[in-house]
Amino acid sequence: MSRRPRQGKPRAKRGVPLPHNLEVDIGAIGGRGDGIASHQGEPVFVPYTVPGDKVLVRVDGRRGDGLLGWPLQVLVGGPSRVEPPCRHFGRCGGCSLQQLDDAAYAAWKRDLLVEALGRAGFDARLVAPLLRISPGSRRRATFAFARRRGRLAVGFNARGSHEVVDLGQCLLLAPPLLDVLPALRELLAALIEDGREGDVVATLTETGLDLLVEAEARLDLFDRERLAAFAEHYNLARLSWRRPGGGEIEPVAHRRPALVRFAGVGVELPPGAFLQPSQEGERALASLVLDAAGSLSPVADLYAGCGSFTFPLTGKAAVHAVEGEASALRALAAAAASAQARVTTENRDLARRPLLPEEVKRFRAVVFDPPRVGAAAQAEILAQAGPPLVVAVSCNPATLARDARILAQGGYRLRRATPVDQFPWSAHLEAVAVFER
Ligand SMILES: C[S@@+](CC[C@H](N)C(=O)[O-])C[C@H]1O[C@@H](n2cnc3c(N)ncnc32)[C@H](O)[C@@H]1O
Repeated sequence: MSRRPRQGKPRAKRGVPLPHNLEVDIGAIGGRGDGIASHQGEPVFVPYTVPGDKVLVRVDGRRGDGLLGWPLQVLVGGPSRVEPPCRHFGRCGGCSLQQLDDAAYAAWKRDLLVEALGRAGFDARLVAPLLRISPGSRRRATFAFARRRGRLAVGFNARGSHEVVDLGQCLLLAPPLLDVLPALRELLAALIEDGREGDVVATLTETGLDLLVEAEARLDLFDRERLAAFAEHYNLARLSWRRPGGGEIEPVAHRRPALVRFAGVGVELPPGAFLQPSQEGERALASLVLDAAGSLSPVADLYAGCGSFTFPLTGKAAVHAVEGEASALRALAAAAASAQARVTTENRDLARRPLLPEEVKRFRAVVFDPPRVGAAAQAEILAQAGPPLVVAVSCNPATLARDARILAQGGYRLRRATPVDQFPWSAHLEAVAVFER
């Protein structure tokens, strides 16, 4: 536990020097997944701990109104402490709660939604039991890589750092994503100069792996041949390259369309496009959306991505899919055309230009699934003029609660909210909330 180096000098508060090392008792786990203790009336946030732990911590600085402690030694373990199953746990920034037993973890995770909605004035009894998504099912991940002193590491960033944890094990990833890492490490070591770093967005599609490398490198003919040979050897669907800073995506080896299927409709995924992290999670969310929408038609699917809800909804409804990312919407529209699905599409920035009152009025239900910032502008308009049913899908309980309050001020009642654990062992939570008026 004591492997992390100190990050800078701890700052004093109002001239009072920070304590160096402390012995603290962890009372609870906070919203970011860190244990919370108390020292002279101030909270101390300590990662990788559980309630009931007595821990020796090094004070690394301040966080918000409290102190940030790094656990040096667990002196007495709390009752819900278990042995973390992954050997990278404690260094890798991917997971923060493997030290907590499963029942305590599931209760804490559901409480993230209960508490966020509770703070916004909603009743905890409206929150359904936690829907679990299996570890080992993750089909999409962004790996970091870096070459330092000749050695290339590929994996996830260490907690709060740019250091890359060279991944040899991961309990979250679907096996093909993990299995390709040794070969990827070798490939990148041959292409990336010392001191450079980058990312690989890896997606397991129905037709094979789709890799998008984002890094600075001058690819000569020999490099391109090497990349194409790699794609061939590992039977990838596609391998693309992009310079950092959102440059053009260059398709280096396009062997087959990278295909995903939503309710049986095949969609050719653009490189790097958003996709729910696991198929199991995507289906759980889609089924909650469908249950709520019933046979209401037409439906607006806002922040539609490549159509993970659009196509399931078309079983019972005509759907208007709105999305800000042009390439995702093109893929959705092409799939809808070839399946002759009842779908219309619109490329629109919903944060700047939410659907207007006269536009939302023509739908009988609206589904929205925004990024972490939520959909405040759209929720305001729905509150004024929205249809009888609104379904909010969210990866951020705090912004979901804010948007829920906006809807409630417009007369919507929250019927139920279901927490979906798409990101096991982390402090991230997905949820589907159903509103009616
Ligand atoms: C959480 S994803 C959901 C996508 C889709 N519903 C799914 O389940 O795959 C959010 C989507 O919103 C899109 N998006 C982000 N900001 C947007 C904006 N301001 N206007 C419209 N779409 C936006 C992203 O491109 C992404 O496809």
